[in-house]
Amino acid sequence: MDYIKAFEAIVAQQLARVEKMKSDTDFIDYQALDKIIIGVIGGDGIGPAITAQAHRVLAQLLADEVKAGKVTFKVIDGCTIENRAAAGKAIPDDVLAEIKKCNVLLKGPTTTPRKGDKWANVESANVAMRKELDLFANVRPVKVPELGIDWTFFRENTECLYALGSQGVNINKDLAFDFRVITNPGTERIAKLAFEYARANGKKRVTIVTKANVVKTTDGKFLDVCKQVAKDYPEIEVDDWYIDSMTAKLIDEKRRSQFEVLILPNLYGDILTDEAAEFQGGVGTAGSANLGKHYSMFEAIHGSAPRMVDEGRDIYADPSSVIRAGAMLLSHIGYQEKADQLFAALEACLVTEKKLTITGRPDGATGAQFADYIMSRIK
Ligand code: IPM
Ligand code: MG
Repeated sequence: MDYIKAFEAIVAQQLARVEKMKSDTDFIDYQALDKIIIGVIGGDGIGPAITAQAHRVLAQLLADEVKAGKVTFKVIDGCTIENRAAAGKAIPDDVLAEIKKCNVLLKGPTTTPRKGDKWANVESANVAMRKELDLFANVRPVKVPELGIDWTFFRENTECLYALGSQGVNINKDLAFDFRVITNPGTERIAKLAFEYARANGKKRVTIVTKANVVKTTDGKFLDVCKQVAKDYPEIEVDDWYIDSMTAKLIDEKRRSQFEVLILPNLYGDILTDEAAEFQGGVGTAGSANLGKHYSMFEAIHGSAPRMVDEGRDIYADPSSVIRAGAMLLSHIGYQEKADQLFAALEACLVTEKKLTITGRPDGATGAQFADYIMSRIK
């Protein structure tokens, strides 16, 4: 292998991406579209079963809009690990073409094969979708009022170690390299989104998380660019932490409630948001918004639980986090009132009223029964 040539190709590819980001326009205005196409991607494992329930809930909330032709749903069911492994691609071409016809997506879990699994070691469908649709902001809220926790993480979603995660190089049997990418426009857009969010929601503090003392070039850039963006938001207090202390501070009872909005490069964001979600009951309870300027995708961030399907238990899988992702979707595309209704229904059905319990087994409610329960709590 000619390493210099390979590296040159990577550099050219990333420089082209930088130029594209620089010339990119504003965020799409969903309400200005004649028609909003909502893609429903089942994914694999329990994904199709739980997304079907979220689809039912959204269809009820948007019934008038569907009737008026303002909203259509498009079910995309080829994004399974079987198809992806057979095509040798993270997302098969025909599936990707269907996805790109939509404006916004609701996505179930997709299996990410690991080295040594029975599946071809294709790239994660999540990561590929984020890159293909340029979904650069992964927004993950974590709220636990009784602990004083109200955090919103803005995880950069297209760069860092993920940008070239499948393009590392084995020089020989002893030496391997991966590449980490941080760009000015890539950092600027996530930082702006976080500060805008903070301003619009009356948040007083934005925290930047890096390891810039050690990873000087890329994290140094991330920190500098975020601080530069911060200058346009003088009313907001800014602090910066290293990722190791940040993981500790999240469990520090005296400090943690002071954090509000956090901005992180991709991998630190991946790790810290798992830790954070644990406070509210684990990643399974968290929804996640993947926002770009032209598309957006909302997903449950738990796994695909293939064993439940093998044992015929997928009808008992808990659809609440993908339904929560659906509420985030409604809010993002301009139906805030409907989103609020759905968040309230989730709160009632999961916390205050709790007339049904989902156990994942026949002794608990089915996903369909839970969706019925939610639907009975909304107009
Ligand atoms: C997440 C997940 C993904 C990620 C995996 C499935 C590739 O952990 O959404 O946080 O690392 O981004
Ligand atoms: Mg993760």
